[in-house]
Amino acid sequence: MTTPTKQKAKFNALRVAEIRRLTDDAVEVSFEVPEELREDYDYLPGQYVALRAQIGGREVRRSYSICDVPSGGLIRVAIKKNLGGAFSTWANEELTVGTTIEVMNPQGAFTPKTHVTSLNDADEIVEEELAGLTAPHLVAIAAGSGITPIMSIAQAVLDTSTDATFELVYANKGGGDVMFAEKIGDLKDKYPARFAVHHILSREQRVNPLFSGRIDDEKLSLLLDRVIQTDQVREWFLCGPFELVQLCRDELDGKGVDSRNIRFELFSTGKPSEGPQQGNTGRPVTADPKGKNVTVSFTLDGLSGEVESPVSANETILNAALRTRPDVPFACAGGVCGTCRAKVIEGEYEMDENYALEADEVAKGYVLTCQTRAKSDRIVVDYDA
Ligand SMILES: Cc1cc2nc3c(=O)[nH]c(=O)nc-3n(C[C@H](O)[C@H](O)[C@H](O)COP(=O)(O)OP(=O)(O)OC[C@H]3O[C@@H](n4cnc5c(N)ncnc54)[C@H](O)[C@@H]3O)c2cc1C
Ligand code: FES
Repeated sequence: MTTPTKQKAKFNALRVAEIRRLTDDAVEVSFEVPEELREDYDYLPGQYVALRAQIGGREVRRSYSICDVPSGGLIRVAIKKNLGGAFSTWANEELTVGTTIEVMNPQGAFTPKTHVTSLNDADEIVEEELAGLTAPHLVAIAAGSGITPIMSIAQAVLDTSTDATFELVYANKGGGDVMFAEKIGDLKDKYPARFAVHHILSREQRVNPLFSGRIDDEKLSLLLDRVIQTDQVREWFLCGPFELVQLCRDELDGKGVDSRNIRFELFSTGKPSEGPQQGNTGRPVTADPKGKNVTVSFTLDGLSGEVESPVSANETILNAALRTRPDVPFACAGGVCGTCRAKVIEGEYEMDENYALEADEVAKGYVLTCQTRAKSDRIVVDYDA
């Protein structure tokens, strides 16, 4: 993954312009972006937005990938109902057109390197980038709601290039669970020679047994050997449950695919004990005047802040920083989205989960502040770095 130019993370209240049912348990929600905010909501295909709403008397924020090509004026996301999940159930069952909810400007690095542009430079497609190269072939492996960023990436790549080809492997339980079935069909019609899709249904029998049942290492290996020309692929996009993404990464590694050509996006860490997101983020902690405290000092949007954090609370930098600045950026609070990224300027620390930062970023001192705890008396981080 590459890190795009970091946009200042900021929420704005946007009106829901349209809600479209995709399957029995998934909806597409479109937000209107007023003219004056268009630039702030420009995005690259594959990026996501964090949404913030009051649900059941508490603030809930979750990330959702944008599922359409950048076109200005609208941000579209697709939300699949997670059984027992707070935000996704609310969005599927209660959210209505006309409601205003807070939407963070687009973030994320799950974007293609091949020949696509954001809304702002749509006229500056650089054909020379591909000069001398064979037509790029891109492959996505997605499961369930993992299709959302892929819809945006596939459409953008096909629309903005004249020769790039895109192959999608899309796993679902049954045909009724396939999100964007119609749009996928439209892409096949529009680009018959450049777009191919292989549906894999875990609970339905298909003519070719390779396309039925769960994707395990054996099935994946067969797909990579027999269906996809693995050695011809320029870029890979993996999006789905943690186990599937991990399986794909391992299998591609085993087949000698350069990891620099693999981009992946996790919607959660997939840990059975994970439960609802946001964990302890925002929990009240009071500095202990008699006990030992850590000084957490930070810069955000050019302004410095400082807060005392009791050692006994063992809280994250994010949790401490939120006490003095409620606008400190975060979304998943689970180490997957990268919204809370900052650079440690001074002090020692430990980071728990990290599914969002690349090794080179970690080596440069970048951390996910929702997962990082100070191990020295003072820690200084910069959210603007
Ligand atoms: C970068 C990124 C992009 C994403 N894009 C999309 C997208 O495009 N589309 C999409 O649908 N999702 C997407 N997600 C996932 C999304 O952000 C949410 O995680 C998802 O919708 C579930 O949120 P929720 O509030 O409904 O569930 P939560 O309330 O967070 O619950 C999560 C799970 O925990 C279980 N649970 C709830 N309470 C408890 C409890 N007390 N104990 C144990 N378990 C419990 C729930 O049953 C549920 O299965 C994305 C996530 C990230 C990080
Ligand atoms: S808020 Fe998502 S990684 Fe920290």
